[in-house]
Parts: sequence; C-alpha cells; structure tokens
Amino acid sequence: MKGIVLAGGTGSRLYPLTKITNKHLLPIFDKPMIYYPIQTMVDAGIRDILVVTGGRNSGDFLKLLANGKQFGLKHVNYAYQEGEGGIAEALDLAEHFADGDKVCVILGDNIVEKSIRAAAQAFEKQESGAKVLLKQVEDAERFGVAEIKDNRIAGIEEKPKRPKSNYAVTGIYMYDGSVFDKIKTLVPSSRGELEITDVNNAYIREGTMTFDFLEGWWTDAGTFDSLLRAANLVSSTRQANVPGYEAIEP
Ligand code: G1P
Repeated sequence: MKGIVLAGGTGSRLYPLTKITNKHLLPIFDKPMIYYPIQTMVDAGIRDILVVTGGRNSGDFLKLLANGKQFGLKHVNYAYQEGEGGIAEALDLAEHFADGDKVCVILGDNIVEKSIRAAAQAFEKQESGAKVLLKQVEDAERFGVAEIKDNRIAGIEEKPKRPKSNYAVTGIYMYDGSVFDKIKTLVPSSRGELEITDVNNAYIREGTMTFDFLEGWWTDAGTFDSLLRAANLVSSTRQANVPGYEAIEP
C-alpha cells in the first residue's frame, strides 16, 4: 500500500501563525507537524510516500524533508495543489502516483499516539473498498461523524450541528484504486470544496466501507486549541520507543 500525506491549504483557522508559512510546518512540541503523519505511515510499514502540499512556502517541505532520511526513507514524492479545492481535490493529484494500488491517506494535521499498522494490514487483506478509522470524541460537531447501524457505517455527516453519534471520522483513510473515479463524480460543497466525506459516502453507498477504532489518543492540530492540545499530548507521551521521536529529558 502506498501512503499519501495531505499538507496543503491556507490554514486560515491558525492565522496569523500561517500568514507566512504552511500550517504543516508549524511545531508540535519538538517536531514540525508534518513529521508526525509521515512517521505514522512509516510505523505502519508504508515506505512509498507522496506529500501533497500547496499554499505558502510549499518549497520549504523539500528543504525540510529532502529524501526522507530522518524517517529511514530513500525517497519522498511531492505534488503541488494549485487551488484551494479541498481534501478530495488534493487527493485527486495522487492518481498518477497511486497507479491503481491501494492507498493510505493521512491529513497532515492528524496526530496519533499508537500505531495504525493493524488497520493497514487488515485493509491490505480487504478485497476492495475503503476503511476509515473512528474515535469517540466529546466535540463530534467539529468533524465528520459516522452513524453506525448493525456494525456498519450507515452514513457520514460533515460537521453536523446535531451529531448522530460521538464517533468522529479521523483523518486517516484507506482506499482502493477506485477512489479517483469517485472523486471525479463529486460536486463542490457549500464551502466550495470537494469533501472527503462525500468520497467516503460513495463507498458506503457501494457497501464496501469498513471501519476500525483508533487506539490511543488522536487529535487534529488545525485550530489554536487543538494545536496546543497536540503539543501537550506529544510532550506528555514522549514516544521514546519510536525511532524519530527521541525523548528529550527535561
Ligand atoms: C477534515 C474532514 C473531517 C475529519 C477531519 C479530521 O476536517 O473534513 O471529516 O473528521 O478532517 O481531522 P477539517 O480539518 O477540514 O475541518
């Protein structure tokens, strides 16, 4: 399975921190934000990785990540999102890279405590379709929210005012090669973006969506509160046993 980290966008909710740089280059405790999703991929056994970036200072990703030596990689692939067309538009830029293979997509501001290796391996065995990772949260209205019926996802609503459950759809998605055909059928949402939730609902309608629950803590880092929360979680966890996250003793 190939890996795609989505790291574009203007980061408008973090202005003025993002006035001169890309959100995913901001620090989360002792590392730039983009390090975390890349390490999550590598820890899941995914080594062929594409970073889709855009917006301000996107050239800095090349300077920062280079060929991925700090993650034990020999090579990193890059793509550039010209517009502000949303997560699904950014993912569409990965079609050539994916070349029909299954892909694991992680939003560049999603930070997790534990490995997603088990879910990735389960998806490798899944014949076709998609898999999302869910997490119970207190503030489901901030996320895509899954409604579960008979142990299947019946539908996902994007940032609903009255969530039907407290199961947030995290920004970690696994798709088969049909994802790009599905993206091409999408129409922009009311916020003018191609929504990843619409991609997921296409798989749900097709009956090929599975889910797992994410272990350990999970946070996004796209608002001031969640950026601080992410730094505090990383700081208190000190993933000393994971290469690339050397513990820094106080
Ligand atoms: C995006 C997705 C949402 C998902 C969230 C996870 O939201 O649209 O469905 O739950 O990422 O971080 P956004 O970061 O655009 O608010």
